[in-house]
Amino acid sequence: MRALLICLLAALALLGAAGKASAAPVRVAIACGALGMELKLCAEGADAWARQTGNEVRIISTPNSSTDRLALYLQMLASRTADIDVLQIDVVWAGMLASHLTDLRPYMGDTPAAHFPALIRNDTVDGRLVAMPWWADVGVLYYRKDLLARHRLPPPKTWQEMTRTAQIIQAAERARGNSRMWGFVFQGRAYEGLTCNALEWIDSFGGGTIVNARGEITVDNPRAIAALALAGSWVGDIAPRGVLNYDEEAARGVFQTGNAVFMRNWPYAWALAQGDDSPVRGKVGVVPLPSGGAGGKVSGTLGGWHLAVSRYSKHPAEAASLVAYLTSAREQKRRAIAAAYNPTIAALYDDPEVDAANPFFRDLLDSLENATARPSRIAGPHYNRLSSDFWRAAHDVLGGQPADRRVARLESDLDRLKHRARW
Ligand code: GLC
Repeated sequence: MRALLICLLAALALLGAAGKASAAPVRVAIACGALGMELKLCAEGADAWARQTGNEVRIISTPNSSTDRLALYLQMLASRTADIDVLQIDVVWAGMLASHLTDLRPYMGDTPAAHFPALIRNDTVDGRLVAMPWWADVGVLYYRKDLLARHRLPPPKTWQEMTRTAQIIQAAERARGNSRMWGFVFQGRAYEGLTCNALEWIDSFGGGTIVNARGEITVDNPRAIAALALAGSWVGDIAPRGVLNYDEEAARGVFQTGNAVFMRNWPYAWALAQGDDSPVRGKVGVVPLPSGGAGGKVSGTLGGWHLAVSRYSKHPAEAASLVAYLTSAREQKRRAIAAAYNPTIAALYDDPEVDAANPFFRDLLDSLENATARPSRIAGPHYNRLSSDFWRAAHDVLGGQPADRRVARLESDLDRLKHRARW
């Protein structure tokens, strides 16, 4: 009996060891976005890494809204969970999340040098590389080529011209029978996306970027007020009232079904608008956003998503290996061709296959290199507070509050924040 027991135990131990050997590969969980084709692309890339390394991956889908995603991450990181190894983080979060993230420099070798230096600087917090750039975004203006041609109007160079063109074509198309036609759709919901849009309006009018390089709050100025007032005039005129609740996908929904002349969005909307099942396929043009007219300039907000490894991961080396794979030139090229995600590796903009898939990428390179950064480096851990004060004010103006009074209130709110935060 005793011998049997020993045999049994030995057999179990062997089984255990065998089980361990086959389970030796680790399972890495990655939190990806699901907007447009994001989730599919993330899963394809992560699966390819898993096949190559023999590890496993688990994909965790996160909310579309950048703001909701941040709330989820903050909750998970505060609980120091080991359930997420790799996080897809917004370009503006490096400073906010740095204390929860692993320094990737020891794992990345020379690869950071191939990426846009500004993005690597963005991801370097107190000398630690807390994320690697995955793709870059910049706000652009989509327009209906066919409608502008029909009404013999050029793509607008200023926001004032965009407003007039949108009014003319909206009225004419409604008269032709499409009662649902709107002139312009954008991201007007009270969230991070509105911060991106409103920053573009203000900066393009020469009204600055909320906070200047010395950290002073600058938003209460006549140009910023004029920019927000013009945007406020769009609601109910060239934009539906529903725009107050639009995120990227809601705006794309209206534009892609053929019911808007212009749309402000990120480059990802290009591949979808040109997709086989898109009603506007072949009818879409993309140009840099308009300037604010005299004294203004073109301004597109810098966006984009980066990959980071949680400090609470039990498998930091494998997680960093997944980050290196997904942010590599090969993966970025695949994503650019399949879905118009802008690479963060400059050399890929000279790649003929990337160029053929995205004829507007070359022009975008200029917009990307001159993109307007949100004040996330200056505000650091306080960025979300600053941004939410800002988007709330912009939302109030879109909702009908007078721009001058609302901006004055914003300025004093941000001044108080600045003093508390001591930046
Ligand atoms: C895009 C940008 C991101 C931005 C977000 C706002 O995803 O890449 O940087 O914060 O839109 O909605």
